[in-house]
Amino acid sequence: MPETVLLVGGGGREHAIARALADDCALYACASNRNPGIARLAEGFEKLDETDPESVVAYAESVGADIAVVGPEAPLAAGVADALDAAGVYAFGPREEQARIETDKAFQRRFMRDNDIPGCPDFETFDDVEAACEYIDEYDGDLAVKPAGLTGGKGVRVIGDQVTAAEAKEYLRESDYDRVVLEERLVGEEFTVQAFVAAGDLKVTPAVQDHKRAYEGDEGPNTGGMGSYSDDDFALPFMTDADYGEAVSVLEATVDALDGYKGVLYGQFMLTADGVRVVEFNARFGDPEAMNTLPVLETSFLDVLVAASRGDPLPDLAFDARATVCKYAVPAGYPEDPEGGTRVTVDEESAARAAEGDGDALLFYASVDDREDGVYTTTSRSFAVVGVAGTVSAAERIAEDALAGVGDGLRVRHDIGTADLVQRRIDHVEELRG
Ligand code: AMP
Ligand code: GLY
Repeated sequence: MPETVLLVGGGGREHAIARALADDCALYACASNRNPGIARLAEGFEKLDETDPESVVAYAESVGADIAVVGPEAPLAAGVADALDAAGVYAFGPREEQARIETDKAFQRRFMRDNDIPGCPDFETFDDVEAACEYIDEYDGDLAVKPAGLTGGKGVRVIGDQVTAAEAKEYLRESDYDRVVLEERLVGEEFTVQAFVAAGDLKVTPAVQDHKRAYEGDEGPNTGGMGSYSDDDFALPFMTDADYGEAVSVLEATVDALDGYKGVLYGQFMLTADGVRVVEFNARFGDPEAMNTLPVLETSFLDVLVAASRGDPLPDLAFDARATVCKYAVPAGYPEDPEGGTRVTVDEESAARAAEGDGDALLFYASVDDREDGVYTTTSRSFAVVGVAGTVSAAERIAEDALAGVGDGLRVRHDIGTADLVQRRIDHVEELRG
């Protein structure tokens, strides 16, 4: 009998998960929004509150799910994995307590310090905004100001980069954050490494570089991520294999110190002049990073899930040695003042034609509204295209060609994955390393 798998979540990341699973199992999905890409791949799609454990469990039971994959952080924070496990549906995703590695940044840093996890920056935690402001005044150097709770990737302000010290204090005083982490500003190049984790076992995937800033040239406010690329190998063009290995050691030490973690452990790293530092951990795949990783995963993702659910060792992972470039199309004005309600004009056939001959082009839907007369944008990231090819540049061209039909009302960071921007990353690290 084939496994029945329930996917929780309706973004681009979850569309990539659905694509990785659909041929191998009976796939069902539920999410707060109806994602047309996932709905097409799944045998059933239920629109429900994905952060309500009872609704998710009820749907899992109604479809006879053996395994569930929880995509986003909000359901994990709400205890959806705990409820599924309790109902006898193995959740590939950490329980609420373990998900604190992402959902509570104060916990995350203390956990690193208490367990001697390498790569932890200097930090202090506060439960009083005025005390945090005093610390900003006294600290010798630039700080990153982080609300302890979830903010969809948009809560951090970095002094000396995005804001002045005075603006950071004003930001804190005007917010309603009750707990704040202040930490040493890390300078360098960011990269992501994601790992599958179960029963103390860990299998790593290639590094990916996301682009958080809204506008080309890394200008503007932080977003959920505008796009990302990976190379044909585990490391990225600006880093060495030893840098990648340093990040993997951090993930290994973290899994050793976490009790009973399962699912994806996502490390966000900064390659600095002094080596690899941890920007944060996430308790799930990255979005967009999942769209880089899963299309080149040659090992069946279902085999990973089944091994995890049985307590067996995880399979060794094989990857297609090709580069990927992912670009998100977002509504005009995103993230500050997004205008939704635009009809999406890109179509999957034209995206696929873009790659004819020299690679693959994939289209992943994210926060769109699937209406009778077409697919419309909401106020969040709309859809992503991913080019897969022998080099980052070739993958970038495929992604751009696939985006050619994108109409008005949508915006793309065209610089992601271009030779120019990748070279700037390489130069930046060379300059830091002297
Ligand atoms: P986070 O929500 O922790 O992922 O932070 C969002 C973004 O803020 C990161 O991707 C970094 O670009 C930036 N950031 C977070 N912490 C630091 C830090 N200690 N130093 C410099 N930048 C940081
Ligand atoms: N790409 C950043 C995140 O998923 O949090």
